Amino acid sequence: MCGIVGYVGPRKVVPIVLEGLKRLEYRGYDSAGIVYLKDGKLVKYRCEGKLANLEEMMEEVDDGGSRIGLGHTRWATHGPPSEANAHPHSDCSGDLVVVHNGIIENFHTLRESLTAKGHIFTSQTDTEVLAHLIEEHLRDDLAQAVAEAVKEVEGSFALGVMWSRQPDRLIAARSQSPLVLGVKEKGGCFMASDIPALLPYTRQVIFLEDREMAVLKNDSLQVFNLDDGQPVEKEIQTIDWNVGMAEKAGYRHFMLKEIFEQPQAILNTFRGRLDPETGIVRLPEIKLSSEELRGVSRISLVACGTSWHAALVAKYWLEKWVGIPVEVDIASEFRYRRLLLGPDVIVIPISQSGETADTLAGLRLAKDLGAKVISICNVVGSTITRESHGTIYTHAGPEIGVASTKAFTSQLTALFLLTLFLGQVRETIPAEKSRELGKALVELPALIEEELPRLQEEMIPICNEFGRSRDFLYLGRGANFPIALEGALKLKEISYIHAEGYAAGELKHGPIALIDRDMPVLALVPGDGVYKKVISNVQEVKARHGRIILVGSRGDDALAEIADFAIYLPIIHEELNPILYTIPLQLLSYQIANMRGCDVDQPRNLAKSVTVE
Ligand code: F6R
Repeated sequence: MCGIVGYVGPRKVVPIVLEGLKRLEYRGYDSAGIVYLKDGKLVKYRCEGKLANLEEMMEEVDDGGSRIGLGHTRWATHGPPSEANAHPHSDCSGDLVVVHNGIIENFHTLRESLTAKGHIFTSQTDTEVLAHLIEEHLRDDLAQAVAEAVKEVEGSFALGVMWSRQPDRLIAARSQSPLVLGVKEKGGCFMASDIPALLPYTRQVIFLEDREMAVLKNDSLQVFNLDDGQPVEKEIQTIDWNVGMAEKAGYRHFMLKEIFEQPQAILNTFRGRLDPETGIVRLPEIKLSSEELRGVSRISLVACGTSWHAALVAKYWLEKWVGIPVEVDIASEFRYRRLLLGPDVIVIPISQSGETADTLAGLRLAKDLGAKVISICNVVGSTITRESHGTIYTHAGPEIGVASTKAFTSQLTALFLLTLFLGQVRETIPAEKSRELGKALVELPALIEEELPRLQEEMIPICNEFGRSRDFLYLGRGANFPIALEGALKLKEISYIHAEGYAAGELKHGPIALIDRDMPVLALVPGDGVYKKVISNVQEVKARHGRIILVGSRGDDALAEIADFAIYLPIIHEELNPILYTIPLQLLSYQIANMRGCDVDQPRNLAKSVTVE
């Protein structure tokens, strides 16, 4: 995600900001910028691409030894990476600047009303509305203007704000996006979106909580509640992490961190698109009219690897709730078969990176044949998004671990939103059902958050028992069959154990020959319509002395009797089981790979973005 660094104090600000941003590079970004105060004016430099470009630019610059400023690395969410979209963003006068992490959900409405009041916008970002909104509220105190402005904002933010007329201070504010402050006994205050940026300068930090803001000066730091303006007493904490630990927020690997980030990633993907009360979904980014959507006769999903698994789940959802035929292709197959596509077909390439060569080739063929192309992607401005007619972005943030985790569950979230949306437009989902399904999705992030620590613990004995196995079988049925495929893929790619996913009903058509004591079998058995069928398949394994791990519904005591290990998950709306049931499988793969001493974040032979055929 984006990175923020700010400093006010006795030292020169430019080197501090550049070094801080460098320490946030691991988070991923596609443009960078800096602002500092010189001779009473704000001076701003921004550029697309790597931080090295900004550093090179700054080598030529006389910053006048400025002692106050802000910096930002942007990972695009609204508007592609470009100099104009890079932070800091200014108000109309250029006397006020903002750097921002997070997503302003009501930015369209705010932008329209600010434009009507005469504000001139120069970027496509959601962030720029903040600069103009604060300008609108600004009288003689910046902190007060920030507090008033953010009351109008829906969404998440971590903010750094600076105004040339109050040149002694920086304002920091947060709501649902992290921001940490640093202090030094001999003077000087820092702000950063993440601890590594502070470590070269101080280990004394204050964590801002949601709905708090801070006024940072050379010799003082005050924190206030954003809503009632009351001062808040904060505790200074001493950080004893090294830089590597800090980058991973204390997690041992990025993959584990990203598994734990899933509640936030899922929430970010549906927030602003799904009305929590009615379940009504808005996806204007699809750029197709209701009439066009009603005229679609078929959907074709195209993807590779984990993204292909997301597509397989979506087929179950779309056919059930929208009643539209859906075909799913592995992109490398799609591109070499005869495609029967036309203007009445929507082709949906799904790609976390937006650069996968086969998926891109499939997209181009589909376009040539006149199909409508709506991609699902996590990287703004990537090739696949540029070439699609519309894109539904997942808002998972950058994924650093090569094995996809939070990008996958965010893809599922986006595909579930698409299902609701199409069902609503085509009137195949009654209002009451929309409400029920929407509510289930809204409740999911908190529920996953609650389960994660326990699930991680529960993987330890299973890993001790089966972590040295040579092979693994994963079984699922219905929309959980693709999750069995995904569980097997996760295990093989990071632990190098041979693993296969099967539709449980296929067991007796071949793979049952493999069953013996050395072949652990993991089966997904939520209490859904195919529960009894999968249990029968599992009994067939048991009868052949296979060893069994079952993942099922809390309260289903039969599972513990049948299995060597039973992993229990809360009962949620059946449709969302594929998202929930993915989590323990990710954790199990992680635990096993870690125990086997594998390079979890960078497994051998794999690349994060597969740009060749
Ligand atoms: C596995 C994994 C890969 C990708 C595949 C497609 O964990 O990440 O299987 O899913 O290479 O990549 P994207 O989604 O970037 O098109």
